[in-house]
Amino acid sequence: QEIRRADYRPPAWLVDEVGLDFALDPDATQVRSRLSVRRNPAGDGDHAIRLNGDGLAARSVMVDGVITNDWHMDGADLIVALPGDAHEVSVETQITPSANSQLMGLYASGGMLCTQCEAEGFRRITFFPDRPDVLSTYRVRLTGEKGRFPVLLSNGNCTASGDNGDGTHWAEWHDPWPKPSYLFALVAGDLVARRDSFTTMSGRKVDLAIWVRDGDLDRTDHAMRSLKKSMQWDEEAFGREYDLDLFNIVAVSDFNMGAMENKGLNIFNTRYVLADPETATDADYDAVEGVIGHEYFHNWSGNRVTCRDWFQLSLKEGFTVLRDQLFSQAMGSESVKRIEDVRVLRAAQFPEDSGPLAHPIRPDSYREISNFYTATVYNKGAEVIRMMRTMAGPENFRKGSDLYFDRHDGEAATCEDFVTAMEDGTGLDLSRFRLWYSQAGTPRVEARLEHDGDAAILHLSQTVPATPGQPDKQPMPIPLRLALFDRDSGDHGGEQLVVFDKAGDSFRFPGFAKPPVLSLNRGFSAPVAIERAVPQDELVFLAAHDDDPLARYEAMQSLTVQYLTADGGKAGDGDGRDAIGAAMAAILDDPALDDLMRGELLMLPGEAYLAEQLLVADPGAIHAAREGLKAWLGQRLEDRLVALHARASAVPYGLEAVARGARKLKTQALVLLAAGAPAVAAELAAAQYSAADNMTDRQGALMVLAGLDTPARETFLADFKTRYEGNALVTDKWFSLQAGSLHPQALEHVKHLAQHPDFTMNNPNRVRSLYMAFAVNPQAFHAASGEGYRMIADLILALDPINAQTAARFVPPLGRWRRIEPGRSALMRAELERVAAAPNLSRDTAEQVGRSLG
Ligand code: ARG
Ligand code: ZN
Repeated sequence: QEIRRADYRPPAWLVDEVGLDFALDPDATQVRSRLSVRRNPAGDGDHAIRLNGDGLAARSVMVDGVITNDWHMDGADLIVALPGDAHEVSVETQITPSANSQLMGLYASGGMLCTQCEAEGFRRITFFPDRPDVLSTYRVRLTGEKGRFPVLLSNGNCTASGDNGDGTHWAEWHDPWPKPSYLFALVAGDLVARRDSFTTMSGRKVDLAIWVRDGDLDRTDHAMRSLKKSMQWDEEAFGREYDLDLFNIVAVSDFNMGAMENKGLNIFNTRYVLADPETATDADYDAVEGVIGHEYFHNWSGNRVTCRDWFQLSLKEGFTVLRDQLFSQAMGSESVKRIEDVRVLRAAQFPEDSGPLAHPIRPDSYREISNFYTATVYNKGAEVIRMMRTMAGPENFRKGSDLYFDRHDGEAATCEDFVTAMEDGTGLDLSRFRLWYSQAGTPRVEARLEHDGDAAILHLSQTVPATPGQPDKQPMPIPLRLALFDRDSGDHGGEQLVVFDKAGDSFRFPGFAKPPVLSLNRGFSAPVAIERAVPQDELVFLAAHDDDPLARYEAMQSLTVQYLTADGGKAGDGDGRDAIGAAMAAILDDPALDDLMRGELLMLPGEAYLAEQLLVADPGAIHAAREGLKAWLGQRLEDRLVALHARASAVPYGLEAVARGARKLKTQALVLLAAGAPAVAAELAAAQYSAADNMTDRQGALMVLAGLDTPARETFLADFKTRYEGNALVTDKWFSLQAGSLHPQALEHVKHLAQHPDFTMNNPNRVRSLYMAFAVNPQAFHAASGEGYRMIADLILALDPINAQTAARFVPPLGRWRRIEPGRSALMRAELERVAAAPNLSRDTAEQVGRSLG
C-alpha cells in the first residue's frame, strides 16, 4: 500500500495519441477512449497494458478495432492483453458526475461540468496509464445539450464544432503539446467570457478568455490584468513564451484546492478569480494575482517540463511557487511580499517540519499523494530553489533555468535533473546541497558573535532535527546573508554571504575596533531557525536601523518572541515589554517608512509560531500572554493609534501602495485598540464599517467587532450578511470572521453556524470558511475542555465519505499533540484515536491519522 520512490520503473507501454469522446450528461456521461499505444523500449516487455481505473467498469474493450475478451480487472485497474508492439486500445465507460462529491475526475458544480485530474483523478474518468511520465497528444470530442451546456471547452485549440439538430451540439479540441493525463481538462456549462489578447515576444497573438457565470463578469478585470502581467513577466524574467493560440481560465465554485494548471484551460476556485473593491479585500486581490501567475507559470514549469513521478512534485511546485513569489515581488512591494512569504512559511511549514507529518521536499514514500500537496513541498521547496538563486546570483540562476528548460523540454523530469541543470548552468557545486531534497526538518543554527582584538568572529553550528523515519542527519550547506553594523554610525560596510556547510564553523571579520551588531540571515536567505541570545538593545537597534527590511521585521519579531516565550510562554518582565512599546512607538512615528512596511513591523508573531519556539506549549498561556501584550500596547499607544486611524481614514480608496498601506494600518490600529481600549475600538470600528466603500475596510472593522462583547456585534454581522446575500465568497467571509474571532464564545458560535441554512458540507470553500478558520483560531480550538478537538474530529468523520481530500486536511491541527501541554495533549490524541478507529476511513484520512499517531 505504501508507494516508494526507490521502486520507480519506466512504463511498459507508452501512449502517443489519445482520442476521447464524451457524451455529457450529469447523471450518465459516456466516455469512449482510443489510445494509440506502443511498447516502451525502456520498459519491462510486458504483454499486457495496465490501465488505471478508480471506481470504473469497462462496458467494452477493443484492440485494433475488434472487441476483445482478453482482459481482466486487477483491483480497480484494467489489464488488457496486447500481443504485439503497437496497438489501438479502446474502452467505453460510463460515469456519474452529479454523484461525484469528491471533486476529483469529472464532477458537477452549480449546473456545469468540470474536471480535476491532478494527481490521480483522470482514472475516475477513463481507464488509462495514469502516471505523469506517459505523455500523449489529445483529441477530445464533447457532445452535450445546447441549453445546459452552451459552452464546451477542453485543452488546446477548438478545431471544429457543430449542431446535431436534436438539441445537442458538439465541439472538437486538439492539444498539439504532449501532456500527462493529470493535465487533461474539460468544462461544459452556461458561461460567459471576458476576452482580451496578448501578443507574445515573438509577435504571436494569443486569445485570452476568463469564463465565469453570468453576473460575475464585472469581477474579472483584475484577473485578466494579472494574466497579462504574468505572461509579460515570464518572458522578461525567465524568457518563457506562451505556446498556444488560446488561453482559457474557468472559475468554479466547488474546488478542492486553489487552482489547476491544465494545458491551455486553467480551472480556478472562484476565490482566486473574482475580485472587485466591494467584495474583495486587498489580500484577496494579491491572492488572485499570485495564483493567476502561479498557474500560468506552470505552463513551462510543470507542463512543458513535467514530473517523472509524484515524488518529484516539488520539481514543478517548489519552482513555480518561487516563480510566483518573484512575480508578486516585482508587481508590488518587494520587501513586504518577502515578509509575507516568510510568515506563511513559519506559520504553516515549520510546524509541519517539526511534527509527525514531517517529510522531505522530495518524499520517499506515500500512501495517498494528495496528502503531499503540502507547505513543505510547495513553500520549503520554493525556499530551497531560492537558496540556489542566492548562491548563484540572479544572472547565473537564469542561465541555470534556461538550461533546465532547454534540456528537458517535452520530458518528464526529476528533481535531480533540475539540480544537475542548475550546476551546469550556474557553475555551482551542489553535491552536498542535494541534502535539502532528502532531509526533512528545519535546521537549527546556533550563532555566537565573539569580539577579538579588531575582529568579529562568528561561530556557527547546525543541527538538523530527527524526523519520522530519519533519525540521523548530515549537516547541509546553509547560505547566510549577513551584515555587521557599527553601533555609532549605524552603518555596515556591505553585506556578505557565507555558505556554512559543516556541523560547526567560524568566520572571521577583521576591522572592528568595537563589537559590531550582527544582522544575520538577511532576506531570510535560508529556511532555518536561528538560535542566538541577542541582547535586547541590539534587537532594538536593528528594529530601528537595519536596512534589510526582512531583517528589520525579524528584529521586531524576535523582540516580541523573546518577551512572550520567556518563562515557558507566560511572558517576561516589564523591561522587555517597555522595549517593545518603545520600538512600536518609534515605528509609528518613523516618517521614512511606507505604511505597508510599517504594518509589517507592527504585526505581532502568531500563536502557532510562538508555540513552535517552545518544546511543549500551553496554548492557553500563550494566548493570554499575547492578548495581554496587545492590551498593554493598545493602552500605551492609544493616542498614537487613534491619530493613525484618523490619518489613514482620510486616504481615499485606490489600489496603489499608499492607499493599501492606509487600509492595512487602519485595521491594525483597531486590533490593538480593541485589546487595550475596547470602547474606543468599538466606536471607531462601527464608524469604519459604516463609512466603508470597500471590502478591506468593511471586513477589517467587522473582524474587530465580531471579537468584542458588544451589542453592536450582532447588528453589524446581520448587516453584512444581508448586504451581500447570495454572494458565496462574501458569505464565506461571514462564516470565517465568526469562526476565527477572539470572542470568548467563538466555539458556541461555530456550533450554531454549522446549523445555518447556508452551511453545507458539499462545498469545500464553505467547509474551510467555518472549520479551518476555527481550527487555526487558537483560543477556540484549544479550549481546555477539549470541545474544539472533538468538533474537528466529528467534522473529519462526517466529511470523509463526502470529500476525503478536504477531510484529511483537518488532521494536522490535531496532529500537534506531542508539542502541547499534557492535559490538552491527551484530549487531542484521544480524538485522533477515535477517528482512527472509525470503519471505512478513506486512504487520505487513514494515512494522515496513522502518521499523526505514529
Ligand atoms: N497543481 C495545482 C497547483 O498547485 C494543485 C492541484 C492539486 N490538486 C490536488 N487534488 N491535490 O497549482
Ligand atoms: Zn502549482
